[in-house]
Amino acid sequence: MSVELDFKRESPKRQGNIWEQDQLRAKKEAWSIGYNFHASDSPFILSEVQVDLSKHAFFEGKNVPLSEAKINIATHGFLYGTAVFSGMRAYWNEEAKRLFVFRPYDHFHRLLNSARMMAMNIPYDEAGLIQLTLDLLRTDNWQEDIYLRPTIYKADMGIGVRLHDLKDEFSMFVMAFEKYVKNDANAHLTFSSWRRIDDNVIPARGKVAGAYANSALIKTDANRAGFDEAIVLDSNGHVSEGSAMNIFMMRDGVLVTPPSTDNILEGITRRSVMELARNELGLEVVERSIDRTEVFIAEELFMTGTAAQIVAATRVDYRPIGSGVMGPVTTKLRALFDDVVRAKLPKYKDWNLEV
Ligand SMILES: Cc1ncc(COP(=O)(O)O)c(C=O)c1O
Repeated sequence: MSVELDFKRESPKRQGNIWEQDQLRAKKEAWSIGYNFHASDSPFILSEVQVDLSKHAFFEGKNVPLSEAKINIATHGFLYGTAVFSGMRAYWNEEAKRLFVFRPYDHFHRLLNSARMMAMNIPYDEAGLIQLTLDLLRTDNWQEDIYLRPTIYKADMGIGVRLHDLKDEFSMFVMAFEKYVKNDANAHLTFSSWRRIDDNVIPARGKVAGAYANSALIKTDANRAGFDEAIVLDSNGHVSEGSAMNIFMMRDGVLVTPPSTDNILEGITRRSVMELARNELGLEVVERSIDRTEVFIAEELFMTGTAAQIVAATRVDYRPIGSGVMGPVTTKLRALFDDVVRAKLPKYKDWNLEV
């Protein structure tokens, strides 16, 4: 109980050494007695994701300060999760002193496909959305790594769960963003007891806001049990992905990832990594279903996502993966990916939109 009181008295921010071992132990102890932490207290993730309300957002047809971009509590998208979104990043290249958005066309293409599945319609195509993005980023002259959150939502107010005969709106905000998973070089994963949403329940390949209740359950239970992230099985018992990231394993020298028909989100980082692995590392890359126990005997394991980037997983449910440290393929892919997103490899410059 004394642990619980200590945590109430001292805010983690003021402790300064939050990540140190004794703090970690105290938190785990507190967890085990049921202390309910705020998400940002978690030693497993960096979710100090604070928005700056003075920056600009695109809202109801124009750029406004984020403090003014507000929806009503009776809005359909808020009441029913009837919104689709993407998470994009733009990276600052310090040598070039330039900001580059990573694969915006692909993100907006997937967003518009998600909208199609959810019977939504907005008056912009991919090119129009890219132009809005450039205008928004130039308004605030961002010069650091950032995250962009475009959303299309059912904007009418009132009760009545459906998709048809409702107005759709597009919005986008931007925030500074660094790491999403703190232990991104040695993450410890668990198998979630939750199942990944099935494509016949909510479109799994669509990025539907309501479906993220599933991701939130997965993430919180994994973190509260002391893990960095979870692997989620689909209703057929196959490995699908993480709470908000795709998964890859090296097995017998081949890079394997679940196919897009195993209820995964068709990740843009996943697609990029597959291409880099084939082109730059000369690896064979195979999309096939993965069984749960294959993960334990993989040589390497990593997860990919826009927020997560490439997270090396070195343990799953207390079993070391391979040698128990980040392997050579993961190490190389992480370095390559960081160069590519910062537009340092001319071969992939089509993936970088200069702001
Ligand atoms: C459920 C889910 N899977 C996978 C990913 C990774 O996709 P991407 O690489 O396009 O960010 C995300 C993140 O967007 C996600 O939310």
